[in-house]
Amino acid sequence: MTHTSEPASGENGRGNHRKSTAEKREHSKAGAARGKGLHRRKFLGGMAGAGIAAVAAAGGAFSLLNDAAKNKASAADSTLTIPDLLEGTTSDSTTTFTLEAKTGTAEVLSGVTSDTMGYNQSFLGPTMKWTNGDTVLLNITNSLGEDTTVHFHGAHVPAKMDGGPQVAFADGETWAPTFTVDDSAKTLWYHPHALGTTAKQAVHGLAGMIIVEDDSTASSDLPSDYGVDDVPLIFQCLATDSAGDIKYDLAGYLESDLSYPLLLNGTNVDSASLSFTATKTRTRFRVLNASPSDIITIQRSDSGTLSQIATDQGYLTEATDVTSIRLVAGARAEFVMDLSADATLQAVVTTGWVRGGSGTYDVLAITASGTDTPDDLPSTLNTIDRYDTSDFTARTITLGQDGTTMLINGSAGTSMDSMAMISTTLGSQEIWTITNSTQLEHSFHLHDVPYQLISVNGEDPTGVQLGWYDTYEVVGGGSIEIAMEFTDYSDDTYMYMLHCHLLQHEDEGMMAGLMVTGDDTSTTTTDDSTATATASASASASASASATATDDSTATATASASATDD
Ligand code: C2O
Ligand code: CU
Repeated sequence: MTHTSEPASGENGRGNHRKSTAEKREHSKAGAARGKGLHRRKFLGGMAGAGIAAVAAAGGAFSLLNDAAKNKASAADSTLTIPDLLEGTTSDSTTTFTLEAKTGTAEVLSGVTSDTMGYNQSFLGPTMKWTNGDTVLLNITNSLGEDTTVHFHGAHVPAKMDGGPQVAFADGETWAPTFTVDDSAKTLWYHPHALGTTAKQAVHGLAGMIIVEDDSTASSDLPSDYGVDDVPLIFQCLATDSAGDIKYDLAGYLESDLSYPLLLNGTNVDSASLSFTATKTRTRFRVLNASPSDIITIQRSDSGTLSQIATDQGYLTEATDVTSIRLVAGARAEFVMDLSADATLQAVVTTGWVRGGSGTYDVLAITASGTDTPDDLPSTLNTIDRYDTSDFTARTITLGQDGTTMLINGSAGTSMDSMAMISTTLGSQEIWTITNSTQLEHSFHLHDVPYQLISVNGEDPTGVQLGWYDTYEVVGGGSIEIAMEFTDYSDDTYMYMLHCHLLQHEDEGMMAGLMVTGDDTSTTTTDDSTATATASASASASASASATATDDSTATATASASATDD
């Protein structure tokens, strides 16, 4: 590990909170001294009574996608940027999407140019729409100058197509996963997942939304006109120094003179809310917390309600009125608003890690200009059969730490060799108790299949907690019980991952493998030859073969990830 020079107290129990508070106070003076923009916000306490936020960034909010011209937009006309929709090309019933992970520059801190990364653009990536039942093929080229992977967060796909660390591919290579979209309507996202570099690459801008559509009644009854009445809201609370250098690891976060800008669809909203004109009375919002570690809570400035329709993994059984939606790093939610009058959405940022942003921001001023009268929301959106877990196989997953090394079940997953491995078989139904033995905040993410919350800190789930999740908060000292069923895909070489979605924690080792094998032990990797067509394995990815493969051809494929994979 590279963190040998970190102070031992950095992530060490409750001291962390005090340290964080002190640093934020110290830092907020710098922010106040600059005296800009602070009047635009109401500050609330952050984690553990942290007090005034550490946000020093000030000045106008700017749109920063793609080109310099956009960077010159003034705060006065900062309309919400809608990420481009990526057009696919369909032939032979396969829809092909083309993505390039590349480097660029963008204005993350007002008036300062940052080195960034993005998919097909300088920062962030276009939104993809997938349709349930369709076959998709993604041609993803790496132009980053270093290894990467692209993970389809929340998607139920074969492990070899999942974009985990085993399928890392080098600069200049193209990775071309293909699969049938098995997910029902939901909001997913894509981001890098190579061991040790996820935080760095994601905070520099490698993240994009995926909207899965289906032919359900709920989907046809809900708003779905992208950018018009179906609006993506991608939040990132980042850390940068005054030169605009985006920080991603503990050493970086402990530097002095940091700011914690809050970005909405790539635009800094520190000093001015963005505007959106709702031309339809009913508008659907899809919120993604793409922050490395901070928690984002969405609410209305007038304390009114939001009608939540979906969690990470699709529709709730019915629209549920909530006054706020709290999203840990990696989580998503969807809600609708019926706008008969203007409204303002706020984001409350809560520090999730050793340091970070905090405070309440007016992020989106919505002008209600719709004249239509929408039908009542459908009374039923989805059927969710709650698991009876009495016959489920039980496991315990312990989230731990040893100084600044993060652990799952006692192992630091900083390499494929060293990480803990959960092995199960296709068709298994399991109940896991996720225990947080640290005093730190964690965000528990499971690849492959959705899970139901069976208990949260000993309490029965209620309301929106009865939906489907793939990423859920586990507070310091807390625990959750989750239940899931491993369906459809098995493999004895390629594995899924389970980990903390605080990106620094996963890079520091809070990552384990999940191997779902076929119950007849003859399962092999999926047989298409395109998946790893031109991928070459990274050093970190190649280590897995000896530990996992039981089949010569797939072992070779994993070790070399050669162009002629089985
Ligand atoms: Cu969004 Cu394994 O991650
Ligand atoms: Cu964590």
